[in-house]
Amino acid sequence: MKKQRILTGITTTGTPHLGNYVGAIRPAISAVSNDSESFYFLADYHGIIKCHEPDRIHRSTLEIAATWLACGLDPAKAHFYRQSDVPEIMELTWILNCMCTKGLMNRGHAYKASVAENEAKGQADLDHGITMGLFSYPVLMTADILMFNANKVPVGKDQIQHIEMARDIAQKFNHTFSQLFTLPEAVVSEETELLQGLDGRKMSKSYNNTIPLFEPEKKLRKLIMKIQTNSQEPGEPKSTEDSTLYHLYKAFATEQEVKAIEQRYAEGIAWGEMKQVLFEKINAEVAPMREKYEQLMAQPEYIEAVLQAGADRIRPMSQALLAEVRNAVGIRKL
Ligand code: TRP
Repeated sequence: MKKQRILTGITTTGTPHLGNYVGAIRPAISAVSNDSESFYFLADYHGIIKCHEPDRIHRSTLEIAATWLACGLDPAKAHFYRQSDVPEIMELTWILNCMCTKGLMNRGHAYKASVAENEAKGQADLDHGITMGLFSYPVLMTADILMFNANKVPVGKDQIQHIEMARDIAQKFNHTFSQLFTLPEAVVSEETELLQGLDGRKMSKSYNNTIPLFEPEKKLRKLIMKIQTNSQEPGEPKSTEDSTLYHLYKAFATEQEVKAIEQRYAEGIAWGEMKQVLFEKINAEVAPMREKYEQLMAQPEYIEAVLQAGADRIRPMSQALLAEVRNAVGIRKL
């Protein structure tokens, strides 16, 4: 049987935080195995949809690549590449654009949110400021996925709709021309959405409540000390249920350790002490990776070489599929 292909992309607009690590990076790296084939890539063409700051795109690409490598991704075992190094994806995007109705894109939630924002602001033109990049970005994502005939696509809940669009577009192509594309399936893990941020809401750049993954130790401690708690005194029994500290602890501790901390909550552990316990737990996991990260960040040429090697290894696949696709649609040598 052919190995299942797992593929996911990471948009290059920010600095990875603990939520990205727990929800996406750590599970993706542990999913790398001999029984499947993993494709993890830096989605830099997605990055420029909303971010028009070149230095930020460039810096984020480096930071995210260094993060994955520092967290233990083995580029010999998983395909690790940068979207823009695989130009076949761009060609496929155009061909798929021609297979995708505008109506399908009208239903995209990112587009609809922008329209709603314009409406709320009283804009006469509801498409005001909305680029074609934003409007058609599910097609680019479809090309990312179909280019390597991925079976499983691990994503956050907000991306499920895009995977469904990818299936629709693949079906349309397969039906119209030739069965070249695999229909992908979204994989949403429990963990993916759950990590809470400093204020107890989902950890997210847009809430400004994140803890950057590779913050220096002192800053990490400071941020953890800022996590919101209720005003219960030391010695008062505490509930774990809506405790962000407990919730974060759980993401890093073994089952046994979690049980022990539940006991401490019942006994009334002081919030200050719990913060220290949490800091030590997170830091124990992150510190060795942080050291690697800092080394990698100082060697951008090395990371560049890793990404180039990643692209070199997969381009024979993308070139072969694109050749079939072009042939199928009638773009052929005379
Ligand atoms: N749009 C995705 C996100 O914001 C990132 C992404 C781009 C992606 N291309 C992809 C995810 C292909 C999965 C497959 O999270």
